[in-house]
Amino acid sequence: MRHSATLTEDILESNAQITGAQKEYLGVTFQPNKNIGIHRWYPYVEGFSGGFVSNVLNEFGVSSGMVFDPFGGCGTTAVVASLSGIESVIIDVNPFMCFVTRAKTQRYKISSLKQVKARLKRKINSYTRAQTPKDNLSPVFEDKNYFSNDAIYKIRFLKQCIGRIRNISTCDFFKLALASILVKVSKLKRAPDLKYKRDNENSPEVFKTFLQKLEQMQQDVVELEGYSTGATAVICDNIIAPSKLTPQYDNSFDIVITSPPYLNGTNYCRNTKLELWVFDYLRSSKDLSELRKQNVTAGINSTQMGNGTKSRFPKVQKLVARISENAYDRRIPVMVAAYFNEMESALKNIYRFLKSGHYCVLVIGDSFFGDTHIPTDVILGSISERIGFRMEDNRIVRVRKSRGGFPLHESILILQKKKNG
Ligand SMILES: C[S@@+](CC[C@H](N)C(=O)[O-])C[C@H]1O[C@@H](n2cnc3c(N)ncnc32)[C@H](O)[C@@H]1O
Repeated sequence: MRHSATLTEDILESNAQITGAQKEYLGVTFQPNKNIGIHRWYPYVEGFSGGFVSNVLNEFGVSSGMVFDPFGGCGTTAVVASLSGIESVIIDVNPFMCFVTRAKTQRYKISSLKQVKARLKRKINSYTRAQTPKDNLSPVFEDKNYFSNDAIYKIRFLKQCIGRIRNISTCDFFKLALASILVKVSKLKRAPDLKYKRDNENSPEVFKTFLQKLEQMQQDVVELEGYSTGATAVICDNIIAPSKLTPQYDNSFDIVITSPPYLNGTNYCRNTKLELWVFDYLRSSKDLSELRKQNVTAGINSTQMGNGTKSRFPKVQKLVARISENAYDRRIPVMVAAYFNEMESALKNIYRFLKSGHYCVLVIGDSFFGDTHIPTDVILGSISERIGFRMEDNRIVRVRKSRGGFPLHESILILQKKKNG
């Protein structure tokens, strides 16, 4: 049963009452997750909030069945579904993000975590550089100077200790704690894309930061002991052309809650390059560009010029022609055409896996290039309708500004797979 007050009404109501940072609680940004159990385990600016996912599950009356997030990110949908006792299937093309979701939705035994932590602390107390392996990181970014000498030795040391933990789930817990602090202890920062810190921005010490992170994560595990959770299946796959999501999932999801990449240049792979590197998902820089190619084309640096500027959609074709005349970078029109072509394939697959009559709730932001506004929400809405969805609503939940001051919207598209579709 649907709630009588819609999400839009809730949002407008709260909008009228609250200001400033609190507004973020409206939930389409990751901000509120930073202080909430489990969600806070891994910082991911590109995520939405747990509160948003809970609102959607409530509004659409989903308390059982299966939830699907084809752009799973750090697993916000998975965590909320699991804590609500609902099963979910989560995919992401980035193997590290799949690891994060898996680690956040696993069950842990607090006694084992405490034992291993105590052992690790003893090792840390007797740490010397001489004990540190020199070859447990691939050479891919060795010349990049992303970490101080002190930090890289300590990371290598922790990686070795964690690699020796025999229980796989316990090992994942410690691995996630180390992954979560990598950017913080590096010479880089998220702003929101990764870039070098300024000279006056110091990085905290590795062991202290790691132990603090473990402490925080353990507190959450203690709070959740005894909680019954819904199972999560995490599959590393590409929603544009899935090869692992078998036909067994056709017409099987009760709801899709998701947020695809925005057409704005965020490079999801590059933003996780430290984690991908330290945990051996990358052996060479070619691996990173291969991974980038599988992502929905959403940033200039991941645009493959060979794709050309041909769009399957007349409205997009018009915008692309206009941008081609004015764009400051010739990759922009190619990127825009590719984005909507690929999103059509993704939406077709989402449609295929969703139960007939059920909803896909999709958070998206629009963009501005040169002097051309790209109404991504409206275009994705009409592409969805061509596929067989009915667009029930396009709810504007947040207004940002382009560099030139043009108001950009963040919207929630409510798409229903037509009955018997
Ligand atoms: C906006 S983020 C999703 C964040 C998520 N809602 C959360 O709260 O963490 C988009 C995600 O889509 C993933 N992605 C990009 N292209 C993909 C593709 N072709 N198939 C599956 N996932 C993809 C990226 O790796 C990124 O994690």
